[in-house]
Formats: sequence, structure tokens, C-alpha cells
Amino acid sequence: MTEPATASPRSAWAALHALAVQPGAGAIRARLDAEPDRAERLTFRAAGLLLDLSRTALHPAALAALQEVARAAGVSGFRDAMARGEAVNATERRAALHLALRDPEGGYRAGAEDASAAVAATLEAMRGFARAVHHGEVTSVTGARFTDVVNIGIGGSDLGPAMVTRALWRPCMPMRAHYLANVDGHAWEAMRAQLDPRRTLVLVASKTFTTQETMANARLVKAWLAESVGEAGAGAHLAALSTNLPATADFGIAPDRVFGFRDWVGGRFSLWSAVGLSVALACGFEVFERLLAGARAMDAHFLAAPEAENLPFLLAATEVWHVNALGLPARAVLPYDERLARLPAHLQQLEMESLGKRVTVGGAPVPQGTGPVVFGEPGTNAQHSFMQLIHQGSVRVPVDFILVARPDHDHAGSHRILLANGLAQAEALARGRSAEQARAEMLAAGMAEAEADRLAPHRAFPGDRPSVTILLPALTPEALGALVALYEHKVACLGAFWGINPFDQWGVELGKQLAGGTLAALEGKAPAADAATAAMVAAIRDHWA
Ligand code: F6P
Repeated sequence: MTEPATASPRSAWAALHALAVQPGAGAIRARLDAEPDRAERLTFRAAGLLLDLSRTALHPAALAALQEVARAAGVSGFRDAMARGEAVNATERRAALHLALRDPEGGYRAGAEDASAAVAATLEAMRGFARAVHHGEVTSVTGARFTDVVNIGIGGSDLGPAMVTRALWRPCMPMRAHYLANVDGHAWEAMRAQLDPRRTLVLVASKTFTTQETMANARLVKAWLAESVGEAGAGAHLAALSTNLPATADFGIAPDRVFGFRDWVGGRFSLWSAVGLSVALACGFEVFERLLAGARAMDAHFLAAPEAENLPFLLAATEVWHVNALGLPARAVLPYDERLARLPAHLQQLEMESLGKRVTVGGAPVPQGTGPVVFGEPGTNAQHSFMQLIHQGSVRVPVDFILVARPDHDHAGSHRILLANGLAQAEALARGRSAEQARAEMLAAGMAEAEADRLAPHRAFPGDRPSVTILLPALTPEALGALVALYEHKVACLGAFWGINPFDQWGVELGKQLAGGTLAALEGKAPAADAATAAMVAAIRDHWA
């Protein structure tokens, strides 16, 4: 993507910051008005997706400065090292080869290992298992066909497949899928009420097979199976998706029911691995393959397209512009499609677990902001909730609007209303409405002048609030695969821009370690480690007395 480094990182960042303090740096409305070809110039296409950056304040000099920062930071070198299977996850000394997961014929290698061959073997095993379950060759120990699949997993072992199944599942598909993530027993209680243990296949999805919540839920669900089909029969209802084969065996899962993946697959990038088995079972293996194909198309674009047209690079550069140049530390993701309701949650883990870092790969403090807070909800629901703050609040929050052109229902009128709202939100954010305009509208509607004066400041919108729009032709498996891969590669680019490791997650460790001690305190077996915890433990235990 980039030429060899020319500017030093310091001077490249300085040039970007200098642009950001120029008068009108954040102006969007004026640019839209002055540049009739802006939408055309700032719209990019790849793998069936369209990305519109015209409602940001980006301009040619900013884009050039961002490319210079990328060049100095070695963004394209990082991408290429990732694709070569080098240990780009430096703190864990591992490759990050999710690219290989969607390309079993891609010739990917992770060090000495033929990664593509390993992927091909797992995909074949998944295909065979899904087929056997769907054809009734693999059944309950009672002989009943499996109608429901429960995926027990959390974080990357839950969010990706749960999001995809929610997006792509249709009633005509082979099985119903359920996702049990939270160790909160209420989650299992609610799910259990919908299930017949004699027809339920259970996948324990855990890269490490040690995650406390997943293992606690797995024990609970295994006991529930055993109550109905006996201890010996429960095994027929279980499979594991994991890198930890000894632990799956200890849990009593037969080796031919273990679908493995390698440590070069990060949890939040594992949707495309054996962790996607629930998608293949619920929606059909062909749907899973089409999802992989969509991601593969985006991968090919990411690896080959020049920066000026490279969607993941451009999305990452836009984020750098917002976070580092304009100082905007949050972003909202609004899919205008109810079926993408879990996409914001998936992107939250993908982006915040990857980019929530404050030291560089070398261990030095990062001199500027890193990953923003990411949140979101489907539109139009979000419009009746937090969009007030995004339109008129004291902070500016860039938005990703995700629109789907063709629905899979016959309610054309509803779909037009949905899309009209998404488009209108982006327009309102960018253009705003001045107090004078608001006042004139109120007067035209017959309002008294004094009342119009009083209300005008409240009814004014500042505008110049940035958004990007991503358009999918339809919510097909291919389009969804391409969309998720787009965000994954954006994350990799941002890791390189900021010089941080986007593939580790040490920040989740401390709480996990402390939970062991607080559990002992709650059980009355040990004192709490600090006074605040001790007081709360005492208050909770009072309720148990
Ligand atoms: O606690 C964070 C995390 O390690 C995530 O990175 C991961 O996706 C999740 O927990 C689940 O981990 P596992 O798949 O090993 O159970």
C-alpha cells in the first residue's frame, strides 16, 4: 500500500496535527456545499460494499498527511507481515492469521506450519459433522434428531457467531441456535425453558477451555443433559471448539467431537474458525462458506488495493483523523437493519479489546490517543435514545451508518422509511440547522416571535458532526463476511498507525485474577483483599443469611 518511509513518525504526526488546528478543519457542511463532486470523490467500493466518507471533514491534504503517517508508522509493512504469518502479536509471540481461516487454498504459513492445510482439514471436519447432524446420522443417544444447538462461550467465542446467526438465520434453515455466554444463572434458566435435552446439541466454545464463565456454564448444561439422557449418553450431545485438546478430553468430550484451531487465531477473530460451527449447524454449511467467501473478497482487496482506494485503510485513516487530529474519543455504530442488532457488540470487542492500549509494542507510552469508545444500537431505535446527544450534545461523536439496500421481506414501505431515516440522520448531523433557520421555520408555522426567540437556541443543531456510511446491497452471507473483515482489517491498520499490539488483551487479566479471591470471600473462606470489597461482601452475605 505504501512506499518506503520518507518522513519520521514525529514530523508526519506533527503535519497532521498542524492541519487539524487550521481554521475550519472540522467543517463538513461548507465542504459539501463547495464541492459538488465530493460524494463521488469520497465514495469507495470493494467486495460488494460501498464506503462513503463525504460526510467527514477529510480533504485531500488531510488524506495525504494520513498516508504520510501510515508510511512512517509502517502500516502496509505490518499488514504484509501479518499475511506472511510473522509473529505480529509480539507480546504473545504469535502470528495473527485469521486471513488463513477464509482461504484454505491460500498457502498461508504460520512459521513452519502450513496454516492453510490445517484450516482445510478443520473445515472438512466441520462440513462432515454439520452434514451428519442435518441428515440425522449424528443423533441424540435416544436416536432423536438434533433440532437445537447451544453454543456455550463468551467474548470472541460467542459474539461473532451469535451476531452472524442473528443476521443470517431464516426459519427454513436446519437448526435453531442459542448462545449462552453469561455465567448469570438467569441466562441459562431462560434458555433451558426453550430446550428439549433429547434434541439439543451442545458446543463448548472456548479457545483456552479454561474461561471461568464458560466452564461453569458447560458443567451446568452437561448435568442437565445427564439428568435426561444419563451420564454416558451426555457425551453424544457434546462437542468442543478449542485449541486446548487435553482440557477438552478432561471434560469428557471425545476426540472426534473436538474441532480445533490454533493459537494464531485470536478470540475476537475466531468467528471464521471452528468457533463458527454453530453458524454452520444453524444456517447450513453453505451459508458459512459464503460468509468466508465474502471475507476472502475483502481480504484480497485489503492485500492488493492502493491506500487511496483501500477500504480498511481509509476507514482506519478516518478514525485517526477523528481521534488524533480532531480529538473525538468515541464512535457510534448504527446498523439500519434489525438483523444486525448484535453487530455493535461484536465490534465493541473487536475494536476495544484490540485497540484499548496505552503502551506501544516496545512498552513506551503511546504519545497520542488510541482506540475510541465504541457503542451502538440498530437504527431507528437509536434515534429515540442516544442520538439526542450526538446531534446536540457538547461532545462530537462520529457515527458509522450501515445501510442495507434490499430487504428480505415484502414490506417495501417499511424499508423505505428505515433507509430514509438513516440517510436523514447523516444529513442532519453534517448540515445541522442554525438558530436563524429554526426561528424562521417556527415563525412560518405561525409561532409568536417571542416564543420563537426563546426556543431557537434549543431547536438549533450545530452540524459539522461526522459520519461514514457503509452500504450493503443486501444482507447476504457474502456481504456480511466482507463487512466484518473490513472492520478486522481496519483494526490491524489502526494497531500499526498507533504502534500498539492489536492482538493481545492483557487488560482482561487483573479482574480475572481478583475474581478468584473475591469468590473465596463471598463463600466466607477468605477475607476480601480490600476494605471496599469487604464491606460489599458483608452487605451481600447479610442478604443470604
Ligand atoms: O477475557 C477476554 C477473552 O480472553 C477474550 O479475548 C476471548 O474472546 C474470551 O475471553 C473468551 O476466551 P476463550 O475462548 O478462551 O474462552
